[in-house]
Amino acid sequence: MALLEVNNLKTVFKTDAGTVQAVRNVSFKLEQGEALGIVGESGSGKSQMMYSIIGLLAENGKVEEGQFFFDGQDISPSNFTHKKDYDNFMRQFRGNSMAMIFQDPMTFLNPVLKIETQLVEPMLNHTDMTREQAKEKALELLKKVGIPSPEKRINQYPFEFSGGMRQRIVIAIALANNPKLIIADEPTTALDVTIQAQVLEIIDDLKKESNSAVIMITHDLGVVAKLCDRIAIMYGGKIVEIGTDKDIFYNPKHPYTEGLLRCIANPEDDNEKTLTPIAGSPPDLLNPPKGCPFVDRCEKAMRICKDFAPEVTEVSEGHQCSCWLLDKRAVRE
Ligand SMILES: Nc1ncnc2c1ncn2[C@@H]1O[C@H](COP(=O)(O)OP(=O)(O)OP(=O)(O)O)[C@@H](O)[C@H]1O
Ligand SMILES: [Mg+2]
Repeated sequence: MALLEVNNLKTVFKTDAGTVQAVRNVSFKLEQGEALGIVGESGSGKSQMMYSIIGLLAENGKVEEGQFFFDGQDISPSNFTHKKDYDNFMRQFRGNSMAMIFQDPMTFLNPVLKIETQLVEPMLNHTDMTREQAKEKALELLKKVGIPSPEKRINQYPFEFSGGMRQRIVIAIALANNPKLIIADEPTTALDVTIQAQVLEIIDDLKKESNSAVIMITHDLGVVAKLCDRIAIMYGGKIVEIGTDKDIFYNPKHPYTEGLLRCIANPEDDNEKTLTPIAGSPPDLLNPPKGCPFVDRCEKAMRICKDFAPEVTEVSEGHQCSCWLLDKRAVRE
């Protein structure tokens, strides 16, 4: 059984300007212990897709359609009669089953509490550990994420740490409850390059050690290259291509995926190929295109792409792409 199964998710936001169709018909599965990268440019729906599933949408947001199963359990909002019941259930559920790591560690850390309190309290709430056992584990976790002299540092406050160190503390807190799923939303974007690499290394080590599944959300294909078993490419609120890391890096099928690959530097390539950003801008989600969301920026667009949304084509087992170029029925003009 998959750890997480998402079927046909559709999320909208009501705004003064109209309805923003942030996520459209997204489906995917995540196996136990697997790392899935969600990649796409700013505004493509990565974060809201995830927040829809874990019950963290803003007040004006709504899951209009979709069913989600976590370890076989139905966690779709539609499975609850009252929003209050859903919210209560999800609060508990997030605390017990998953860990979240966001871009800014301070959205998660409490500035007025010592690191010890922030590590130990959740353990006391979610396990039957004693305070001594929890503190022991807290020290162990801080050591594991590379905080030097944890015995001293555990008594300090978040402001006494650098950005990279704070992110390590968040990871330590995230791991305190042996989560089945770690969700990281741009966890390294605010960090400088060497610290970024270290933080990714820590997430990777912990994933291997704990067999937690990971969902890594990022706009940077380079970040997922090392960490992720599978990669989903999002564009205009849709997953346009999904496959293994090899499928995406060596056999990309969607013109947008190809475009993203041309934007990243290849560290193994000595002749520094010129990086070419994708021209144009993303679609307006207040009024999304009825055909392929990428049509206006696609060099290979055909007539059909404008008017009809492409269906999912199975390129090979587990490698799926929504593009008319792969569909034999499409008239090539
Ligand atoms: N509360 C909200 N009200 C209205 N629109 C929203 C709201 N939150 C998000 N959106 C819109 O939903 C769309 C998807 O946003 P999302 O945050 O998922 O993008 P993202 O891919 O995570 O981008 P980034 O890389 O910048 O984090 C965007 O068009 C965004 O403007
Ligand atoms: Mg985001």
